[in-house]
Amino acid sequence: MNKIVQNTNHKRVAVLLSFLANTTSCDTLFDRPPPGTIDNTAPVDLSVLPNDFMWGAGSSAHQAEGNDTHSDWWAWENSGKTKSGEISGVAADHWNRFDDDFGLLADLGLDTYRLSLSWARLFPQPGMTEPDPEALAHYDAVFESLARRGIRPMVTLHHFVMPQWLTDGNRWETGEAVEDFKQLAAMAAARWGRYVDWWITVNEAEVFVLHGWFRAIFPPGKFDIGLAMQVMANLMKAHASAYHLIKQLDTVDADGDGDPARVGIAQLAVPYEPFSENDVIEAVLANVFENISNTFWLLANETGILDLRIPFGPSVVEEHAPFKDSIDFIGVNYYSRQIVRLDIIGFIIAPPPGAPVSDLDIEIYPDGLYDALEFLSRYKLPMIITENGIADADDSRRGSFITAHLRELTRFKRDHPEVSVFGYIHWALTDNFEWENGFAPRFGLYAVDYATQKRTMRPSAKTLADLAGQYRTERRRTP
Ligand code: FCB
Repeated sequence: MNKIVQNTNHKRVAVLLSFLANTTSCDTLFDRPPPGTIDNTAPVDLSVLPNDFMWGAGSSAHQAEGNDTHSDWWAWENSGKTKSGEISGVAADHWNRFDDDFGLLADLGLDTYRLSLSWARLFPQPGMTEPDPEALAHYDAVFESLARRGIRPMVTLHHFVMPQWLTDGNRWETGEAVEDFKQLAAMAAARWGRYVDWWITVNEAEVFVLHGWFRAIFPPGKFDIGLAMQVMANLMKAHASAYHLIKQLDTVDADGDGDPARVGIAQLAVPYEPFSENDVIEAVLANVFENISNTFWLLANETGILDLRIPFGPSVVEEHAPFKDSIDFIGVNYYSRQIVRLDIIGFIIAPPPGAPVSDLDIEIYPDGLYDALEFLSRYKLPMIITENGIADADDSRRGSFITAHLRELTRFKRDHPEVSVFGYIHWALTDNFEWENGFAPRFGLYAVDYATQKRTMRPSAKTLADLAGQYRTERRRTP
């Protein structure tokens, strides 16, 4: 435990010293060349990628399937709590169109589909000892369809959304949700282990907790940092239990690579940077944020200690041995970096002025993927990009976005051949319901006309398809 504290402090002191030592110029992001300028002339060197690199696209149940009526998100939307005021409704109707959608994925030559299971459909009522038969049959058909098409599933068990009863009962706060989650994980591993070798327990735990218990923009809509810490600790315990259950219950090696189950997490990977190169406070804040958002789970995986501490905030420090070595791989969700800037009203986190941005005003910053992989590589775990995408309704930026991020990924691999980065899963296969922002943000490789549910391939999808195709052709030539 002491070791962790020391390491963090050393790093903070080092950052402070290096910035104090260099206070003569006043370089800010205003003065630097436009960040994130996408140079699409440089080639993407696919030869550095490993054999069996996964090429995929993703979705999550609530965002794509539609009619997730027993979920806390459904209740949240229907009581008018989202910023957009929109209701997910039938969403992209993926519940009914999954088979065709998998055809669309296969049309692009992609081989991996990241999906999540609707917990609320499987266990719509509290106290159920068996899952809902209709939901079971549905996911049986989903996995059959993927298998028939030779598409590898990567399954997320917790992607932000819970059954309403679980949220109503504050069960993440009390810790009872750990048992609920174990039930979900055990059931899924036992039933679908013969199809699934790749599992993600929790998607972006830090976003889930921050939005739900601090920013109040996700259910349960609270502002209580103490509860937030408790929920995070309980999520970590739930993960650890689920990890061991899946390892025990999924004994079928579906893809024949010798390993029946690999269990990881998906983590929002955010490089934080100070706005002014020489501003010590910004630098320290950036460092603190980066460590908070990127390290809780990964440090606990090394130590078996849940060490949740934030400056001036409440903390949870607790030994939990099952967490040790409970992460087989890191799913890297990379969208952008964050700039920390001190202002008269305090600090703000915003894209630098003039930076290229998405429709959601998120900076397009491919270099940050390199930085994120470098930061995370210190944990010595295999990594896969589980999300990377852009809200880009007119598709004017997505193609170069994809190329530029894959260029950064391959540049990282070239510089760090010893680090495993084994796939790229684009967010998302189709347009879908983007949480508090509703349907306006368009993340899909395929556009969805929500009036008719017609799918139309966006030109940028071809960019990804071409890169995947090029990779395969090169591999065939040099096995
Ligand atoms: C990620 C979420 C995913 C989607 C993308 C745009 O943070 O995991 O569900 O909303 O952002």
